[in-house]
Amino acid sequence: MSERREPSQPASQQQTGRTAAYDSAFLRACRREPVPHTPVWFMRQAGRSLPEYRKLREGIPMLDSCMRPDLVTEITLQPVRRHNVDAAIFFSDIVVPLKAIGIDLDIKPGVGPVVAEPIRTRADLERLRPLDASDVPYVTEAIGMLTAELGATPLIGFAGAPFTLASYLVEGGPSRNHEHTKALMYGDPELWADLLDRLADITASFLKVQIAAGASAVQLFDSWVGALAPADYRRSVMPSSTKVFDAVAGLGVPRIHFGVGTGELLGLMGEAGADVVGVDWRIPMDEAARRVGPGKALQGNLDPAVLFAGREAVEAKTREVLTAARDLEGHVFNLGHGVLPTTDPEALTRLVEFVHEQTAR
Ligand code: CP3
Repeated sequence: MSERREPSQPASQQQTGRTAAYDSAFLRACRREPVPHTPVWFMRQAGRSLPEYRKLREGIPMLDSCMRPDLVTEITLQPVRRHNVDAAIFFSDIVVPLKAIGIDLDIKPGVGPVVAEPIRTRADLERLRPLDASDVPYVTEAIGMLTAELGATPLIGFAGAPFTLASYLVEGGPSRNHEHTKALMYGDPELWADLLDRLADITASFLKVQIAAGASAVQLFDSWVGALAPADYRRSVMPSSTKVFDAVAGLGVPRIHFGVGTGELLGLMGEAGADVVGVDWRIPMDEAARRVGPGKALQGNLDPAVLFAGREAVEAKTREVLTAARDLEGHVFNLGHGVLPTTDPEALTRLVEFVHEQTAR
């Protein structure tokens, strides 16, 4: 896909490997460089809170929509047009690479990913074959279309981290307590390590496909890893996430690492190899910075439920986040988790404008 950049970019950029988005506020903040304003994007910005999204998706199952480059491109662009966010996030799902290698799964509306036959034995591992670019041609095609449309606005690629993918595969669907997953992790450490290692390879390949196609940053979602104590995270999960980050190091794109309820894990999640650590709303950004230590940017962390309060309350809580983040080396403003489906889109648009105004320098 190296031809991708030729039509739209001057020769000087090709020589330096710098895309049109290189100097965007978002990528500068990820690199801990000075920014004209604090960049803003929202996890789950592409999706259910937007009426234009719901209209487009009518009658099309979620996973089918992820395999249609025209739909993916339009859905990814919708929040960029509407909210003036500083980055786009690729419209897909963490289970798309698993579907692409032949795992029988579906995304059930209002439920989430459901796996027909959970993976729990050594024989089951054979179903997790490696992924390559030819398994996801629609991803490469959609990202090519998107980067052409986005110009200087960066596109964030993403994947699910091995633990979070394993939790869906082992449980067979969403889970509150992750009991089957933990039973495997504690009860058969060798099988567990092999499972996570296979998932790390699939995840790394999925991210590399997105980077080769033109994504200018990647986020590894370990959404449910906050269910683990730090010692278990370090022993049983961190090696596989480190493998993913190592695989995409040196490709010139910042690597973001995020999970929910991970206050106690933030230091380790940075150590795993992230350039930017995502923070949920349960701890203030300055405390998160102390836990992560120097040399990393942070992303976060307004409680998504705050957007259901009035404008003044949203502004007050946003000021709190910005004040706590004042001395960070790099700050990307985001919610502490994804946009909730019934959020008023106008509140999101106003929030972007407010952060931009408050942080203009
Ligand atoms: O805007 C974006 O963030 C980009 C698209 C995106 C989706 N899923 C689309 C989607 C991203 C980044 C994801 C990641 C994802 N998927 C995660 C990690 C992020 C997080 O929230 O922690 C997880 C855990 C999943 C698994 C998953 N897929 C869940 C829990 C759900 C929601 C189920 C429900 O309906 O409540 C999905 C489905 C899904 N993925 C939707 C969207 C827009 C909703 C499907 C629909 O519109 O019918």
